[in-house]
Amino acid sequence: MEQDKVLDVRNLHAVFRIDRKEYEVLHDISFSVHRNETVCVVGESGCGKSVTTLCVMGLLPKNGRITSGSISLNGTDLTGLSAKEVRKFRGKKMGMIFQEPMTALNPLLTVGYQLRENLMLHRGVDKKTASQMALDYLNKVGIANPEQRLKQFPFQLSGGLRQRVLIAMVLSAQPDLLIADEPTTALDVTIQKQVLSLLNHLKKEMSAGIMFITHDLGVVAEIADRIVVLYAGRKVEEGSAQQIFNNPQHPYTIGLMNAVPDVEKDDFVIQPIPGMFPNITEDSPGCRFNPRCAHVNECPLCVTAAPEMIEIEPGHFVACHLRNREAE
Ligand SMILES: Nc1ncnc2c1ncn2[C@@H]1O[C@H](COP(=O)(O)OP(=O)(O)OP(=O)(O)O)[C@@H](O)[C@H]1O
Ligand SMILES: [Mg+2]
Repeated sequence: MEQDKVLDVRNLHAVFRIDRKEYEVLHDISFSVHRNETVCVVGESGCGKSVTTLCVMGLLPKNGRITSGSISLNGTDLTGLSAKEVRKFRGKKMGMIFQEPMTALNPLLTVGYQLRENLMLHRGVDKKTASQMALDYLNKVGIANPEQRLKQFPFQLSGGLRQRVLIAMVLSAQPDLLIADEPTTALDVTIQKQVLSLLNHLKKEMSAGIMFITHDLGVVAEIADRIVVLYAGRKVEEGSAQQIFNNPQHPYTIGLMNAVPDVEKDDFVIQPIPGMFPNITEDSPGCRFNPRCAHVNECPLCVTAAPEMIEIEPGHFVACHLRNREAE
């Protein structure tokens, strides 16, 4: 199991500087991703999902900084490397797909040219082999008429096809870790399902680990093996997909579950969790979820101390005073 660990994030803390003051945006985040495993990081807008991926990729903006913790890729701690070394490591071992594939594809070059260049760079093959492999990769990601597609420019493709091209590109470098930040959010539901099942299939075939970011629990249900729930820059719960869906423990996770529209029912009413999400510039003692928690009056600790993470069943972790008290 240990040698299958591709990514290991331990006690990660990160800050952003705003008006000469530093605010903590990630607090003590830990999780890992193994080969053949998709770990979904979920939580509502602003909870720190993208910042977590930026830390892993070594791409934090200039006003951001990791203050402590480690990020190990195949056993090497990236936080100890120079920016140049991280970039080198990243290009080879990590692949990234985003919501908008055009940010990663060059609009002025054909799909075939970009795929070939990528293959020559990462796999060290000659042009002829790269051309054949480019075709194979387009086939792998389920693109029909690949010969024709190779001659096209990214803008000539639909959003779903562009995302597939980007996935082909990323996979052709044979990464150990695939990081996907909301890759299907801009796609319509049918195409979204196709891309998710493609990723599920490729995870097995390439034996890569996938770190998948989304705020959409419907997507999580399709793809996750494990789930990490973030709230206001902290991990509040983690477990297998089954544990989180069948037995959510943190009031925030339970709220998220209730917020999933039930497609079986006629009414598509989403139940939002009442209350506002805290801004990173606000700091308060106690559990960060307490202003929105229905149980806050049941336990005085909720407003005075941050809850510790406990393991309530094997592999299922939660940070909530109420659960801690029950577990004692
Ligand atoms: N460059 C920056 N400078 C200052 N604060 C930032 C910066 N980038 C992000 N933040 C803040 O960090 C917090 C986490 O942002 P992040 O982008 O990780 O959220 P997210 O979970 O990815 O949300 P979404 O679902 O909307 O993509 C937010 O409060 C955001 O405003
Ligand atoms: Mg984001």
